[in-house]
Amino acid sequence: MGTMGSTDALADVHVGDPYPVYEWLRETAPVYRCRGDTYLLTRYPDCRRVLTERELFLAPGGHPPSGRTAGHASPPVLSRVMSSQNPPRHTRMRTAVARRFAEHLRGQQPWLSRLCDQLFEPVVETLSHGVADMTPLAEAFPRDTIMHVLGLPRTDRELVSALVADIFPTSGPLPGSERDGGAAMRRLTDYLHREVARRRCAPGDDLTSELVRAHTARPEALPHDELVSILTGLTVAGFPQIAAGIETGIVLMNRHPERSAFLDDPVSARMFVDELLRYDAPVQFTPAPRIPARTVVIGGVTIPAGARVWPVLGAANRDPAVYFRPDEFLPGRRGPRHLSFGGGAHYCLGAELVHLEIAMLLGRLRQRLPDLVQAQPPAQRYGRLRGFTSVPVMRTER
Ligand code: HEM
Repeated sequence: MGTMGSTDALADVHVGDPYPVYEWLRETAPVYRCRGDTYLLTRYPDCRRVLTERELFLAPGGHPPSGRTAGHASPPVLSRVMSSQNPPRHTRMRTAVARRFAEHLRGQQPWLSRLCDQLFEPVVETLSHGVADMTPLAEAFPRDTIMHVLGLPRTDRELVSALVADIFPTSGPLPGSERDGGAAMRRLTDYLHREVARRRCAPGDDLTSELVRAHTARPEALPHDELVSILTGLTVAGFPQIAAGIETGIVLMNRHPERSAFLDDPVSARMFVDELLRYDAPVQFTPAPRIPARTVVIGGVTIPAGARVWPVLGAANRDPAVYFRPDEFLPGRRGPRHLSFGGGAHYCLGAELVHLEIAMLLGRLRQRLPDLVQAQPPAQRYGRLRGFTSVPVMRTER
C-alpha cells in the first residue's frame, strides 16, 4: 500500500480536479489507508466487489445485524436513511417503497414534460436579453418533481431547497471532511413528520399518503420511524444529484456540440446520459462506507473487520483496466456498467427517474435552444456532489 507523505496530499483534490489524484491512487495505492481505519478503493473491480458482496461488506447503519457493531461508522446525519441500513431493516424499507415509487412514476411523463416547459419559459426570456445561468433550472426541475411525487406543497419549495442544501455535506471529493448537517436533518425530519401527520387526516394520491396507508394497515411491515426515514432519504437523494447531472450534461453539450445529437432519440439519449454519469459521477463516493464483517484482503491489503471501506465511484468509472480512453466523453462507448448508481442491494432507487429527467431536460434544451453556447467558463463544484455552481450560457442567434 502506498503512503502520501507527511502532508495530506489528498487535500489537493479538495481544491481542484480530482481525476489526477484518483489516477495516482489507482496506480500507486488502489487500496489506500487514510485516517486510521478508513480505506479508499479506486479500482473498478474492487469497488464493484465491495458494493455487491453484501454479506461481507455491511452497510454501517445504526441498526447492524445482531452481534455486529458497525454502527459507529455511519455519518450521523445519514445513520437512519436506507443506504446505511442492513437487513432486515433495509429489506423492509426497500420493499415498502420500491414498487410504490416505480408505480408513482408510471404515467408521469406528460406532467414532467409540462413542468419542463414551464421552467424553460423564464430561461428563454432571460436568454433573449443576454446571459443566463442554468443552475437554477437544473435544480428546480428535479426538486419540483420529487416534491410532486411525495405530494409536498409547492409553496415549500424554497424551504426544502434550503434544508437539503444544508444537509448535503460540502466535503471534498474524497470521504472525510463532511460538515455536520445534523441540525438541518432534524429540521427536515420534523417537517416530514408534520407532512405525515397531515396525510393521516387528509390523505391524497401521492406517495407519502400511500406509505402512510401502508403503515396504518401493517405497522410491523413499515414502522413509523422507517416511513419517515424513507421520506427523508427520497427528499435528500431526490434532487441535488440529478441537478449535478444536468449541469454536467449542459457543460458537455457545450463542449461537444456534435455529440449532442445522441439526445435526439430515446435509445441514444440513454447512452448520452449513461456516459455523462460515468465521465463525471454526480456522487463521487457512496454516502456511507461499507464495513467488512471479517478480516478481508483486497488488492493484497489486509483490511480488519469493522474498518470503513469507501468505494470512490468517480475513480472506478475512469479505470483504464475496464474503459477504453476513460478520460474522454464518448457516448455509446463499450464497457461495463458505470458505478455512479452504486451496485448490488443498495443500487440507486431513483436510477430510472434520473435517466428520464436528465434526458428530457437536455433533449428539450437541444430542441428549443439549439444555438446555445457557453458565455463564460462554468464554475465546477468540488465535493462528493459534483456538478457546477454556475453554468452561464447565451444564444448565438437572438
Ligand atoms: C444523478 C442522480 C443520482 C445519483 C448519481 C445517485 C447515486 C446513488 C448511489 C451511488 C447510491 C448507492 C449508495 C450506496 O451503495 O451506498 C444511491 C442509492 C439510493 N438512491 Fe440515488 N442517486 C441519484 C438520484 C436519486 C434519486 C432521484 C432518488 C430518488 C428519488 C434516489 C434515491 C436513492 C435511494 C433511496 C438510495 C438507497 C437505496 C438503498 O439503499 O437500497 N437517488 N444513489
